[in-house]
Amino acid sequence: MTASITLHDGTTIPQLGFGTFKVPPEDTAATVGEALSVGYRHIDTAQGYGNEAGVGQAIAESGIARDDIYVTSKLTNSMHRRDDALRSFDDTMDKLGLDELDLFLIHWPLPTLYDGDFVSTWKVMLEFVEQGRVRSAGVSNFQPDHLAQIIDATGVAPVVNQIEVHPFFRNEAARIASHEHGIAVEAWGPLARGEAVKDPVIREIAAETARQPSQVALRWHVQRGDIVFPKSMHRERMEENFAIFDFGLSEEQMERIDALDKGAAGRQGPDPDTFDRA
Ligand SMILES: NC(=O)c1ccc[n+]([C@@H]2O[C@H](COP(=O)([O-])OP(=O)(O)OC[C@H]3O[C@@H](n4cnc5c(N)ncnc54)[C@H](OP(=O)(O)O)[C@@H]3O)[C@@H](O)[C@H]2O)c1
Repeated sequence: MTASITLHDGTTIPQLGFGTFKVPPEDTAATVGEALSVGYRHIDTAQGYGNEAGVGQAIAESGIARDDIYVTSKLTNSMHRRDDALRSFDDTMDKLGLDELDLFLIHWPLPTLYDGDFVSTWKVMLEFVEQGRVRSAGVSNFQPDHLAQIIDATGVAPVVNQIEVHPFFRNEAARIASHEHGIAVEAWGPLARGEAVKDPVIREIAAETARQPSQVALRWHVQRGDIVFPKSMHRERMEENFAIFDFGLSEEQMERIDALDKGAAGRQGPDPDTFDRA
């Protein structure tokens, strides 16, 4: 059993999902099929991952009712202009084989490209919702001032902000700004791309709780209220990462993990203020 979170538009999202960044296109149908058979019902993909078709194939082959699977994709960096966004969204839906997408995100704000105009891109996302093709619209890698700009311009806040968050980079400024607008936080790279399981403090807490280090790291996220979707190509890890709702961390254990934060030095991905790969 996984928990679910109610978003500000009234929809719900499973708090635990499965990530697909770096799942090779040719392996995606089998890998996502495996994740669905483990019990995952929330899949995070993106146009930029090149594997939406495999996700669609796995969903179709699973026999699981469409309404029981939550699917997210993301508008890629080269498609921010309205015409490109419309075309690429059609392509996403063809590849996924879906009539309606649960959640569509702007992948990166790209404040130094497109004349810094991510507001127009946000308006296109809202069009998809109005047309009933996307249930919820969100953003990814938006900094506090980026959130303020799109909300000031449209009066509509994204339902989620998908940002890098893990024990070595708590990203509190972006988390707090998101919460202030009623936006749920999705923590990408929740295992710090595998580094979290090697950390001595996390391993110590794993021994104290008779759990695996990955479960301790993921449990820390869900106790903070964030949505997570760890990626793994291995079934035993998929199972391990899925079993995080039958134990808890004490306040003291949570604080010891909080203390691993290295601030900006802990960031593993690009800085959204300067990232400009279109
Ligand atoms: N919006 C964005 O800009 C953005 C950026 C990055 C990621 N994301 C999303 O967030 C998802 C998760 O992030 P991520 O994939 O970068 O990193 P992650 O989930 O933190 O870590 C994945 C890495 O950890 C390893 N791993 C997984 N489970 C493990 C376990 N139980 N024990 C030991 N190692 C384990 C995996 O290896 P194996 O596969 O070999 O098991 C893989 O190398 C992505 O898949 C994607 O959907 C979004």
